Amino acid sequence: MNALLDTLHTRHSVSANQLSEPAPNAEQLNDILKCAITAPDHGKLRPWRFIVIRDDARHALANVFVEAAKVRDPDMSEQKLERLAEKPLRSPLIVVIVTTLTPEHPKAPEIEQTLSAGAAVQLMQLGATALGFGSVWLSGANAYDENVKQALGIETKDQIAGFLYMGTPPETIPSRRRPELSDHVSEWVAPLG
Ligand SMILES: Cc1cc2nc3c(=O)[nH]c(=O)nc-3n(C[C@H](O)[C@H](O)[C@H](O)COP(=O)(O)O)c2cc1C
Repeated sequence: MNALLDTLHTRHSVSANQLSEPAPNAEQLNDILKCAITAPDHGKLRPWRFIVIRDDARHALANVFVEAAKVRDPDMSEQKLERLAEKPLRSPLIVVIVTTLTPEHPKAPEIEQTLSAGAAVQLMQLGATALGFGSVWLSGANAYDENVKQALGIETKDQIAGFLYMGTPPETIPSRRRPELSDHVSEWVAPLG
């Protein structure tokens, strides 16, 4: 089978806590991010940008998550806060995908701009896979938290499309079951008229 097609057919996410060192190096990360900017983009709006978080910055992100959670829920237990603080430390590298939407664009409604950001994330996942790295696209409450956005220098009008956790996957991971193609595909036939 065609090797690229095989990669596309078998790509799957890897749990963040199964992604270990080494992370993609600078050149590999550059190659992965170059995949993102090939995302289909109606109107050339470039509605996405990417914030790279690695090494010690992950500890600072953990702190941001904890402080934001305390504001969301002042009664959150110490245990839960500790678990939250561990989240950004699970993988060696995180890319935050930020969308900047142009409202009322004459050609590209906001849904199309958001879809472009989604394509950018998926292309990064494929790029990571091509280089032998694993990744998982996560959101959760942190992605929608204004305090998290502010700490990361993201304007209120912009959105976090997700956190892409990346690293080296374990040598063997079970392949993921995919849905039956026929459950999701049909062919439209013009009614005889
Ligand atoms: C926008 C978006 C946000 C997601 N957020 C989470 C999340 O917070 N937690 C989670 O377990 N999976 C989340 N997922 C799902 C995983 O990224 C992944 O797609 C899922 O585990 C299936 O794995 P697969 O990519 O191998 O099909 C999200 C997916 C998308 C598209």
